Amino acid sequence: MTRSSSPEPVTAATDLAAAWLPARMSEVERRLGENVAGWGSELGADAGETLAAGGKRMRPLLVLLCAGRRAGVEAIRAATAIELVHMATLVHDDVLDDAPLRRGLPTVVASSGRRRAVAAGDLLFSRAFATLADDGTPAGRSRPGTDRQVELLAGASVALARGELAQRRDAYDTGVSIERYQHRCALKTAALFECACVIGAARPAAEEAALRDFGRAIGLAFQLLDDVLDVLGPPERTGKARGTDLLDGTVTLPFILARERDAGLLEVDLEGLDPAAAERVCDRIAATGAPGQVRAEARERVERAKAALRESGISGEELQMLELVADGVVERYS
Ligand code: IPE
Ligand code: IPE
Ligand code: MG
Ligand code: MG
Repeated sequence: MTRSSSPEPVTAATDLAAAWLPARMSEVERRLGENVAGWGSELGADAGETLAAGGKRMRPLLVLLCAGRRAGVEAIRAATAIELVHMATLVHDDVLDDAPLRRGLPTVVASSGRRRAVAAGDLLFSRAFATLADDGTPAGRSRPGTDRQVELLAGASVALARGELAQRRDAYDTGVSIERYQHRCALKTAALFECACVIGAARPAAEEAALRDFGRAIGLAFQLLDDVLDVLGPPERTGKARGTDLLDGTVTLPFILARERDAGLLEVDLEGLDPAAAERVCDRIAATGAPGQVRAEARERVERAKAALRESGISGEELQMLELVADGVVERYS
C-alpha cells in the first residue's frame, strides 16, 4: 500500500489546498525521514521500514488543515510528532494484536519479533516528543506553545495506552457491551484525532472546542469503519489480514450487532480460532448485514460532526476541506 491509496475525498481536500498544503506535507515527510534515520541496523531499520510502508497520513493532514493556511513551523512540528506517535502505536498495537500484516507488508513483530517491535515503538514515541521539544527556544526562556503541544500529545498517548489495555481486558468476551466498545474506541483512536485537530495552533476557545468535538467524532467513526474493514477486507485493499480482531479476541461493533441476529455467535470460542476459522466467523457476521449497519452508523456520525462544525462558525475553504477529510474517514478501503 502507498499513500496513493489516500481516500478520494482526502485527495480532493489536499487539491483544494494545493497552494500551501503539499509543500508543508512534504516537509513533514522529510522530518519523519530524519527522525527514523541513524538508529542502526535494528532500531533504525524497523522504524525506517515502518515509515517507508506508507500510510494515509490522515492525522498530520488534520493538524495542518486545522492550523490553517498560515500553518507555520509549530504546526509542521506537531504534524510530524503526531504521525510518529501514530506509527509507534501501530508497531506496539501489532505486538498486542499479534497482527501479521500492515500496509500490505509483514508487521515489525512478524518480521523482527516482539523485542525489536517493542523497541522500535519506543524509539518512535521518543522521537515524537523530541521533535516537539526541539523548538529552538533558548534555554531558560518560557515556551508556552510547546508546553501545550507536549501536554496534548502526552494526553492522547496515555489515552491510547489505556484504550489498548481496556481492549486486552475485554478480550474473548463475546458478550461485551456497546458502551464498553465505544469507550475503548474513544480512548484508542478518537483521542489522537481530537489532538490532531487542536495541536497545530492555538485558536479562540469556541473554535477550539468545536474542533475538539469534530476530531473526537470523526475519530470514533474512523475506528467503526476500521472494524468493518477487519470483517470484510479485502486484504488486497486494506493491507491487513481479515479477522485479525477476532483472532486476538477483540469483539467489535460488527460482531456485537451480528450477535443480536445470530445468537450462536455468543457461543463461539474465540480462543480456539485459527485464521481460517476467524474468516468463517467474519463471513457469518457479514451474512447478518451488521457490517453495513456499522458503516451506516459511521457515516451518520460523520454527517453529524460536519453539521456541528458548520454551526460553529468555522467556514469557507477551511470548513470545506475538513468536511472532505471527514468524508474520507468513512469512504475508504484502507
Ligand atoms: C490504523 O490507522 C489504526 C486505527 C486507528 C484504526 P490508519 O488507518 O490511519 O493507519 P495508516 O497510517 O493509514 O496505515
Ligand atoms: C486501533 O485498533 C489501534 C490503534 C489505535 C493503535 P486496531 O487494532 O483495529 O487497528 P489496526 O486494525 O491494527 O490498524
Ligand atoms: Mg490492531
Ligand atoms: Mg483494526
